[in-house]
Amino acid sequence: DKGGHKHYMAKEIAEQPVVVAEAIRSYLPTGGDQVVLPGDDLDFTKLDRLTMVACGTAFYACLTAKYWFEQLAKMPVEVDIASEFRYREPPISDRTLALFVSQSGETADTLAALRYCEGKADKIVSVVNVAESSIARESDMALPIHAGVEIGVASTKAFTCQLSVLLMLALKAAADRGTLNDEEIADHAAALRGLPTVLNAALDQNDAIRQSAQRLSEARDVLFLGRGLMYPLAMEGALKLKEISYIHAEGYASGELKHGPIALIDKHMPVVVMAPRDAVFDKTVSNMQEVMARKGKVILVSDDDGIAEAEDGVWSTIRMPHVHTSLAPILYSVPAQLLAYHTAVAKGTDVDQPRNLAKSVTVE
Ligand code: M6R
Repeated sequence: DKGGHKHYMAKEIAEQPVVVAEAIRSYLPTGGDQVVLPGDDLDFTKLDRLTMVACGTAFYACLTAKYWFEQLAKMPVEVDIASEFRYREPPISDRTLALFVSQSGETADTLAALRYCEGKADKIVSVVNVAESSIARESDMALPIHAGVEIGVASTKAFTCQLSVLLMLALKAAADRGTLNDEEIADHAAALRGLPTVLNAALDQNDAIRQSAQRLSEARDVLFLGRGLMYPLAMEGALKLKEISYIHAEGYASGELKHGPIALIDKHMPVVVMAPRDAVFDKTVSNMQEVMARKGKVILVSDDDGIAEAEDGVWSTIRMPHVHTSLAPILYSVPAQLLAYHTAVAKGTDVDQPRNLAKSVTVE
Protein backbone atom coordinates (compact mmCIF):
# COMPACT_ATOMS: atom_id res chain seq x y z
CA ASP A 1 0.00 0.00 0.00
CA LYS A 2 1.57 3.24 -1.16
CA GLY A 3 -0.82 5.34 0.92
CA GLY A 4 -1.83 7.56 -1.99
CA HIS A 5 1.76 8.12 -3.17
CA LYS A 6 3.05 7.18 -6.61
CA HIS A 7 5.99 5.27 -5.19
CA TYR A 8 6.98 3.58 -1.96
CA MET A 9 9.97 5.89 -1.83
CA ALA A 10 7.70 8.97 -1.78
CA LYS A 11 5.60 7.38 0.96
CA GLU A 12 8.67 6.51 3.01
CA ILE A 13 10.11 10.02 2.67
CA ALA A 14 6.79 11.48 3.80
CA GLU A 15 6.59 9.12 6.80
CA GLN A 16 9.78 10.46 8.35
CA PRO A 17 8.25 12.92 10.84
CA VAL A 18 6.17 10.08 12.30
CA VAL A 19 8.79 7.32 12.39
CA VAL A 20 11.56 9.61 13.62
CA ALA A 21 9.21 10.75 16.41
CA GLU A 22 8.69 7.10 17.31
CA ALA A 23 12.45 6.43 17.36
CA ILE A 24 13.03 9.46 19.58
CA ARG A 25 10.20 8.58 21.95
CA SER A 26 11.56 5.10 22.50
CA TYR A 27 15.06 6.25 23.54
CA LEU A 28 14.19 9.57 25.14
CA PRO A 29 11.21 8.88 27.40
CA THR A 30 9.05 11.89 28.27
CA GLY A 31 9.72 13.56 31.56
CA GLY A 32 13.51 13.55 31.34
CA ASP A 33 16.52 14.27 29.16
CA GLN A 34 18.27 10.96 29.79
CA VAL A 35 18.70 8.54 26.92
CA VAL A 36 17.46 5.12 27.99
CA LEU A 37 18.56 2.04 26.05
CA PRO A 38 16.31 -1.01 25.77
CA GLY A 39 17.39 -4.06 27.79
CA ASP A 40 20.88 -3.99 29.26
CA ASP A 41 22.74 -0.79 29.83
CA LEU A 42 26.00 0.21 28.18
CA ASP A 43 28.71 1.93 30.20
CA PHE A 44 30.73 4.19 27.93
CA THR A 45 33.25 5.01 30.66
CA LYS A 46 34.70 1.51 30.27
CA LEU A 47 35.29 1.94 26.55
CA ASP A 48 38.09 3.77 24.84
CA ARG A 49 37.15 3.31 21.19
CA LEU A 50 34.18 2.88 18.93
CA THR A 51 34.44 0.94 15.68
CA MET A 52 31.49 1.31 13.34
CA VAL A 53 30.96 -0.87 10.29
CA ALA A 54 28.23 -0.85 7.61
CA CYS A 55 27.52 -0.64 3.87
CA GLY A 56 25.93 1.97 1.62
CA THR A 57 23.55 4.40 3.25
CA ALA A 58 24.10 2.80 6.68
CA PHE A 59 27.82 3.53 6.22
CA TYR A 60 27.04 7.22 5.67
CA ALA A 61 24.96 7.16 8.87
CA CYS A 62 28.08 5.83 10.65
CA LEU A 63 30.30 8.54 9.13
CA THR A 64 27.88 11.18 10.41
CA ALA A 65 27.86 9.56 13.85
CA LYS A 66 31.65 9.76 13.97
CA TYR A 67 31.35 13.56 14.17
CA TRP A 68 28.82 13.24 16.99
CA PHE A 69 30.80 10.74 19.08
CA GLU A 70 33.99 12.74 18.65
CA GLN A 71 32.49 16.17 19.33
CA LEU A 72 29.92 15.33 21.98
CA ALA A 73 31.46 12.32 23.75
CA LYS A 74 35.17 12.89 22.95
CA MET A 75 35.49 9.26 21.88
CA PRO A 76 37.89 8.08 19.19
CA VAL A 77 35.88 6.53 16.38
CA GLU A 78 36.74 4.43 13.36
CA VAL A 79 34.27 3.89 10.56
CA ASP A 80 34.65 1.29 7.86
CA ILE A 81 32.89 -0.27 4.91
CA ALA A 82 32.09 -3.87 5.83
CA SER A 83 33.57 -5.42 2.67
CA GLU A 84 36.95 -3.80 3.44
CA PHE A 85 36.90 -4.26 7.19
CA ARG A 86 36.24 -8.00 7.11
CA TYR A 87 39.31 -8.90 5.04
CA ARG A 88 41.74 -6.40 6.51
CA GLU A 89 41.98 -8.18 9.85
CA PRO A 90 42.08 -4.96 11.85
CA PRO A 91 43.25 -5.32 15.46
CA ILE A 92 40.34 -4.87 17.89
CA SER A 93 41.03 -4.16 21.56
CA ASP A 94 38.85 -5.50 24.36
CA ARG A 95 37.94 -1.90 25.26
CA THR A 96 36.31 -1.38 21.86
CA LEU A 97 32.61 -1.14 21.28
CA ALA A 98 31.90 -2.66 17.85
CA LEU A 99 28.79 -1.15 16.31
CA PHE A 100 27.07 -2.46 13.18
CA VAL A 101 24.39 -0.50 11.38
CA SER A 102 22.03 -2.23 8.95
CA GLN A 103 18.46 -1.59 7.89
CA SER A 104 17.81 -5.19 6.82
CA GLY A 105 20.10 -6.81 9.37
CA GLU A 106 20.99 -9.36 6.66
CA THR A 107 23.76 -7.66 4.66
CA ALA A 108 26.36 -10.42 4.13
CA ASP A 109 29.48 -8.27 4.49
CA THR A 110 28.19 -6.50 7.62
CA LEU A 111 27.29 -9.83 9.20
CA ALA A 112 30.75 -11.22 8.39
CA ALA A 113 32.37 -8.11 9.92
CA LEU A 114 30.30 -8.62 13.07
CA ARG A 115 31.42 -12.25 13.32
CA TYR A 116 35.03 -11.14 12.95
CA CYS A 117 34.61 -8.97 16.08
CA GLU A 118 33.14 -11.77 18.20
CA GLY A 119 35.46 -12.60 21.08
CA LYS A 120 37.62 -9.54 20.35
CA ALA A 121 35.53 -6.43 21.09
CA ASP A 122 34.18 -5.65 24.57
CA LYS A 123 30.65 -5.61 23.20
CA ILE A 124 28.86 -6.02 19.90
CA VAL A 125 25.96 -3.67 19.38
CA SER A 126 23.79 -3.32 16.30
CA VAL A 127 21.47 -0.60 15.08
CA VAL A 128 18.86 -2.35 12.96
CA ASN A 129 15.41 -1.93 11.50
CA VAL A 130 14.50 -5.61 11.32
CA ALA A 131 14.52 -6.75 14.96
CA GLU A 132 14.52 -10.49 14.19
CA SER A 133 17.37 -10.27 11.64
CA SER A 134 20.67 -12.21 11.75
CA ILE A 135 22.69 -9.12 12.71
CA ALA A 136 20.30 -8.31 15.57
CA ARG A 137 20.33 -11.91 16.83
CA GLU A 138 24.11 -12.21 16.78
CA SER A 139 24.70 -8.95 18.67
CA ASP A 140 25.08 -8.58 22.45
CA MET A 141 22.63 -5.72 22.16
CA ALA A 142 20.35 -4.71 19.28
CA LEU A 143 18.99 -1.18 19.10
CA PRO A 144 15.88 -0.95 16.90
CA ILE A 145 15.38 2.18 14.79
CA HIS A 146 11.56 1.90 14.57
CA ALA A 147 11.38 2.99 10.92
CA GLY A 148 8.76 0.37 10.01
CA VAL A 149 9.00 -1.72 6.84
CA GLU A 150 11.07 -0.01 4.14
CA ILE A 151 10.25 -1.23 0.63
CA GLY A 152 11.92 1.27 -1.73
CA VAL A 153 15.40 0.05 -2.66
CA ALA A 154 16.71 3.55 -1.96
CA SER A 155 16.93 3.81 1.80
CA THR A 156 15.28 6.97 3.17
CA LYS A 157 13.38 6.73 6.44
CA ALA A 158 15.79 4.08 7.72
CA PHE A 159 18.63 6.57 7.28
CA THR A 160 17.00 9.36 9.31
CA CYS A 161 15.95 6.87 12.00
CA GLN A 162 19.50 5.43 12.09
CA LEU A 163 20.86 8.95 12.48
CA SER A 164 18.39 9.75 15.27
CA VAL A 165 19.28 6.60 17.22
CA LEU A 166 23.03 7.14 16.70
CA LEU A 167 22.78 10.74 17.90
CA MET A 168 20.95 9.58 21.01
CA LEU A 169 23.62 6.92 21.58
CA ALA A 170 26.28 9.63 21.30
CA LEU A 171 24.36 11.69 23.88
CA LYS A 172 24.27 8.68 26.18
CA ALA A 173 28.04 8.31 25.73
CA ALA A 174 28.51 12.02 26.47
CA ALA A 175 26.40 11.74 29.64
CA ASP A 176 28.34 8.67 30.85
CA ARG A 177 31.69 10.28 30.14
CA GLY A 178 30.71 13.68 31.51
CA THR A 179 31.70 15.49 28.33
CA LEU A 180 28.45 17.50 28.04
CA ASN A 181 26.81 19.34 30.92
CA ASP A 182 23.15 18.98 31.85
CA GLU A 183 22.19 22.09 29.95
CA GLU A 184 23.84 20.91 26.75
CA ILE A 185 22.15 17.53 27.06
CA ALA A 186 18.79 19.22 27.68
CA ASP A 187 19.32 21.39 24.58
CA HIS A 188 19.93 18.33 22.44
CA ALA A 189 16.93 16.50 23.92
CA ALA A 190 14.66 19.49 23.22
CA ALA A 191 15.97 19.77 19.67
CA LEU A 192 15.40 16.04 19.10
CA ARG A 193 11.83 16.34 20.32
CA GLY A 194 11.30 19.25 17.93
CA LEU A 195 12.68 17.28 14.99
CA PRO A 196 9.32 15.99 13.63
CA THR A 197 8.09 19.60 13.30
CA VAL A 198 11.11 20.76 11.32
CA LEU A 199 11.03 17.59 9.19
CA ASN A 200 7.46 18.52 8.26
CA ALA A 201 8.61 22.03 7.34
CA ALA A 202 11.33 20.50 5.13
CA LEU A 203 8.72 18.29 3.42
CA ASP A 204 6.69 21.45 2.73
CA GLN A 205 9.51 22.53 0.39
CA ASN A 206 8.60 19.69 -1.96
CA ASP A 207 7.57 21.95 -4.87
CA ALA A 208 10.74 24.05 -4.75
CA ILE A 209 12.81 20.87 -4.60
CA ARG A 210 10.92 19.40 -7.57
CA GLN A 211 11.81 22.48 -9.60
CA SER A 212 15.50 22.14 -8.80
CA ALA A 213 15.30 18.42 -9.61
CA GLN A 214 13.84 19.23 -13.02
CA ARG A 215 17.11 21.00 -13.76
CA LEU A 216 19.23 18.18 -12.35
CA SER A 217 17.50 15.66 -14.61
CA GLU A 218 19.24 17.25 -17.63
CA ALA A 219 22.71 16.79 -16.14
CA ARG A 220 25.21 14.06 -16.86
CA ASP A 221 27.19 14.55 -13.65
CA VAL A 222 26.29 16.21 -10.36
CA LEU A 223 28.55 17.16 -7.48
CA PHE A 224 27.36 17.36 -3.86
CA LEU A 225 29.43 19.44 -1.46
CA GLY A 226 29.35 19.65 2.32
CA ARG A 227 31.66 20.32 5.24
CA GLY A 228 31.67 18.83 8.73
CA LEU A 229 28.39 17.07 9.48
CA MET A 230 27.21 17.88 5.93
CA TYR A 231 30.07 15.97 4.30
CA PRO A 232 28.70 12.46 4.87
CA LEU A 233 25.29 13.77 3.81
CA ALA A 234 26.80 15.05 0.54
CA MET A 235 27.94 11.48 -0.16
CA GLU A 236 24.54 10.10 0.80
CA GLY A 237 22.82 12.60 -1.51
CA ALA A 238 25.10 11.52 -4.35
CA LEU A 239 24.43 7.83 -3.67
CA LYS A 240 20.67 8.43 -3.68
CA LEU A 241 20.84 10.30 -6.98
CA LYS A 242 22.99 7.74 -8.77
CA GLU A 243 21.09 4.70 -7.64
CA ILE A 244 17.64 5.84 -8.75
CA SER A 245 18.25 8.39 -11.54
CA TYR A 246 21.41 6.78 -13.02
CA ILE A 247 23.06 10.21 -13.14
CA HIS A 248 26.70 10.10 -12.15
CA ALA A 249 27.09 11.94 -8.84
CA GLU A 250 29.82 12.37 -6.28
CA GLY A 251 29.83 13.72 -2.77
CA TYR A 252 32.90 15.70 -1.78
CA ALA A 253 34.13 17.56 1.26
CA SER A 254 33.96 21.23 0.22
CA GLY A 255 37.58 21.75 1.25
CA GLU A 256 38.77 18.97 -1.08
CA LEU A 257 37.34 20.66 -4.16
CA LYS A 258 40.55 22.44 -5.06
CA HIS A 259 42.52 19.21 -4.75
CA GLY A 260 41.05 17.82 -7.95
CA PRO A 261 37.32 17.84 -8.60
CA ILE A 262 37.23 21.58 -9.36
CA ALA A 263 38.71 20.61 -12.73
CA LEU A 264 35.31 19.14 -13.60
CA ILE A 265 33.42 22.39 -13.11
CA ASP A 266 31.96 24.10 -16.16
CA LYS A 267 28.55 25.46 -17.13
CA HIS A 268 27.14 21.95 -17.47
CA MET A 269 27.93 20.91 -13.91
CA PRO A 270 25.25 21.32 -11.25
CA VAL A 271 26.68 21.44 -7.72
CA VAL A 272 24.41 20.87 -4.75
CA VAL A 273 25.78 22.68 -1.69
CA MET A 274 24.46 21.54 1.69
CA ALA A 275 25.19 24.44 4.03
CA PRO A 276 23.19 25.37 7.11
CA ARG A 277 24.36 28.66 8.65
CA ASP A 278 26.75 26.95 11.10
CA ALA A 279 30.35 27.45 12.26
CA VAL A 280 31.82 26.27 8.94
CA PHE A 281 29.32 28.10 6.72
CA ASP A 282 31.73 30.84 5.56
CA LYS A 283 34.28 28.27 4.46
CA THR A 284 31.70 26.35 2.48
CA VAL A 285 30.44 29.54 0.86
CA SER A 286 33.90 30.47 -0.28
CA ASN A 287 34.23 27.01 -1.89
CA MET A 288 30.83 27.57 -3.49
CA GLN A 289 32.02 30.88 -4.93
CA GLU A 290 34.98 29.10 -6.50
CA VAL A 291 32.43 26.86 -8.24
CA MET A 292 30.40 29.83 -9.50
CA ALA A 293 33.52 31.63 -10.73
CA ARG A 294 33.98 28.64 -13.06
CA LYS A 295 30.34 28.83 -14.19
CA GLY A 296 29.21 25.82 -12.14
CA LYS A 297 25.46 25.84 -11.42
CA VAL A 298 24.90 25.94 -7.67
CA ILE A 299 21.81 24.65 -5.88
CA LEU A 300 22.19 26.05 -2.37
CA VAL A 301 20.41 24.20 0.44
CA SER A 302 20.43 26.39 3.54
CA ASP A 303 18.30 28.25 6.08
CA ASP A 304 16.98 31.84 5.93
CA ASP A 305 20.22 33.35 7.27
CA GLY A 306 22.43 31.30 5.00
CA ILE A 307 20.36 32.07 1.91
CA ALA A 308 20.21 35.80 2.71
CA GLU A 309 24.00 35.86 3.03
CA ALA A 310 25.01 33.70 0.09
CA GLU A 311 22.31 33.50 -2.57
CA ASP A 312 23.92 35.98 -4.98
CA GLY A 313 24.68 34.23 -8.24
CA VAL A 314 23.32 30.79 -7.31
CA TRP A 315 21.17 28.78 -9.75
CA SER A 316 18.48 27.94 -7.23
CA THR A 317 17.92 27.72 -3.49
CA ILE A 318 16.16 25.21 -1.24
CA ARG A 319 15.08 26.71 2.06
CA MET A 320 15.29 24.68 5.25
CA PRO A 321 13.99 25.64 8.69
CA HIS A 322 16.49 26.51 11.42
CA VAL A 323 17.64 23.58 13.49
CA HIS A 324 20.16 22.80 16.24
CA THR A 325 23.56 22.35 14.52
CA SER A 326 23.90 18.71 15.64
CA LEU A 327 20.60 17.78 14.01
CA ALA A 328 21.19 19.39 10.62
CA PRO A 329 22.22 16.16 8.83
CA ILE A 330 18.90 14.55 9.82
CA LEU A 331 16.88 17.52 8.55
CA TYR A 332 18.93 18.04 5.36
CA SER A 333 18.39 14.37 4.45
CA VAL A 334 14.90 15.36 3.28
CA PRO A 335 16.02 17.68 0.43
CA ALA A 336 18.76 15.17 -0.51
CA GLN A 337 16.15 12.41 -0.82
CA LEU A 338 13.54 14.55 -2.59
CA LEU A 339 16.09 15.87 -5.09
CA ALA A 340 16.98 12.29 -6.05
CA TYR A 341 13.34 11.24 -6.09
CA HIS A 342 12.06 14.02 -8.33
CA THR A 343 15.06 13.74 -10.65
CA ALA A 344 14.33 10.04 -11.11
CA VAL A 345 10.64 10.72 -11.68
CA ALA A 346 11.52 13.39 -14.27
CA LYS A 347 13.77 10.87 -16.02
CA GLY A 348 11.13 8.15 -15.85
CA THR A 349 13.32 5.53 -14.17
CA ASP A 350 11.97 2.77 -11.95
CA VAL A 351 12.23 4.58 -8.62
CA ASP A 352 11.34 1.76 -6.25
CA GLN A 353 13.15 -0.98 -8.12
CA PRO A 354 16.21 0.55 -9.82
CA ARG A 355 18.10 -1.62 -12.27
CA ASN A 356 20.82 -3.97 -10.98
CA LEU A 357 19.98 -3.39 -7.31
CA ALA A 358 18.43 -5.51 -4.57
CA LYS A 359 16.91 -4.24 -1.34
CA SER A 360 18.97 -6.56 0.76
CA VAL A 361 22.46 -7.64 -0.32
CA THR A 362 22.85 -11.12 1.15
CA VAL A 363 25.79 -12.15 -1.05
CA GLU A 364 29.30 -10.66 -1.01
O1 M6R B 1 20.23 -3.35 4.91
P1 M6R B 1 21.50 -2.54 5.01
O2 M6R B 1 21.29 -1.25 5.74
O3 M6R B 1 22.64 -3.32 5.61
O4 M6R B 1 21.88 -2.18 3.53
C1 M6R B 1 23.08 -1.50 3.23
C2 M6R B 1 23.08 -1.02 1.80
O5 M6R B 1 22.96 -2.09 0.91
C3 M6R B 1 21.96 -0.01 1.52
O6 M6R B 1 21.99 1.07 2.40
C4 M6R B 1 22.06 0.53 0.08
O7 M6R B 1 23.22 1.29 -0.08
C5 M6R B 1 20.80 1.33 -0.28
N1 M6R B 1 20.24 0.87 -1.51
C6 M6R B 1 21.05 2.81 -0.36
O8 M6R B 1 19.90 3.53 -0.68
